[in-house]
Amino acid sequence: MVKVVLVTGGNRGIGLEICRILAAAGHKVILGSRDLQKGQKAGDMLKGKVQAIHLDVINAGHIQVVASFIEKAYGKLDILINNAGIGIGSKGAPDADLDDVKQIMETNFYGAWYVSQAMIPLLRKSNDGRIINMSSGMGALNDLTGGYAGYRLSKTALNGLTILMANELNQEEIIVVAMSPGWVRTDMGGAGAPRTVEQGAETAVWLATASRADIETGKFYRDRRIILW
Ligand SMILES: NC(=O)c1ccc[n+]([C@@H]2O[C@H](COP(=O)([O-])OP(=O)(O)OC[C@H]3O[C@@H](n4cnc5c(N)ncnc54)[C@H](OP(=O)(O)O)[C@@H]3O)[C@@H](O)[C@H]2O)c1
Repeated sequence: MVKVVLVTGGNRGIGLEICRILAAAGHKVILGSRDLQKGQKAGDMLKGKVQAIHLDVINAGHIQVVASFIEKAYGKLDILINNAGIGIGSKGAPDADLDDVKQIMETNFYGAWYVSQAMIPLLRKSNDGRIINMSSGMGALNDLTGGYAGYRLSKTALNGLTILMANELNQEEIIVVAMSPGWVRTDMGGAGAPRTVEQGAETAVWLATASRADIETGKFYRDRRIILW
């Protein structure tokens, strides 16, 4: 069945690859980009198969315009993929720059929360609503060491939000999950990362399109399998 999908941070990296695969499969993909020109360029690369839209996940005005656009164009949203993310500063908790940490939390954690809250009314209008949060193994509670304190904690917090949202939206049958793409060759992951963007996008695409019976809400996935928080 054709789904209406919103991907944040869709103009490059893993987000762009998710858009490419879902659009090629015939889904209605809305590619959110905080720089509209970059989004349109990415849309052109995908031969106009996606709708590029101006979406900075920490801009309340953008988020409302996107929600109104989706409401008017489709009347519902089936899948929200909270993919947008930043990583600044590599220091550990004892000496991390807390201004950097606040900035990371604003995008990676609050950004996903702001967008989710605005899209939930549209997800309620779907009979197969799902929120997929692009987290990281670096935020897993059993791996909180090795620098990058702000980034790690932003993903730990996103994982917590995933559980809360999943529990609170369970009655309404909206699935909420988090996932780790592994270490992927993108601007963020760097050239030395072992995984391709296709590999990084694969589980997100599966979580977006697999039968509901195959996905457990409120869980953390990697390579289609549930992993520990
Ligand atoms: N690469 C990895 O190894 C890896 C591992 C684990 C998790 N992840 C997660 O996977 C997601 C995608 O990462 P990636 O590797 O594809 O990174 P990337 O290549 O650096 O792309 C990040 C994307 O997020 C967008 N973005 C940043 N801040 C934004 C904001 N305020 N509003 C909207 N978009 C914003 C960027 O837009 P601009 O082009 O405008 O900057 C870009 O499109 C992130 O959440 C990341 O934490 C990545």
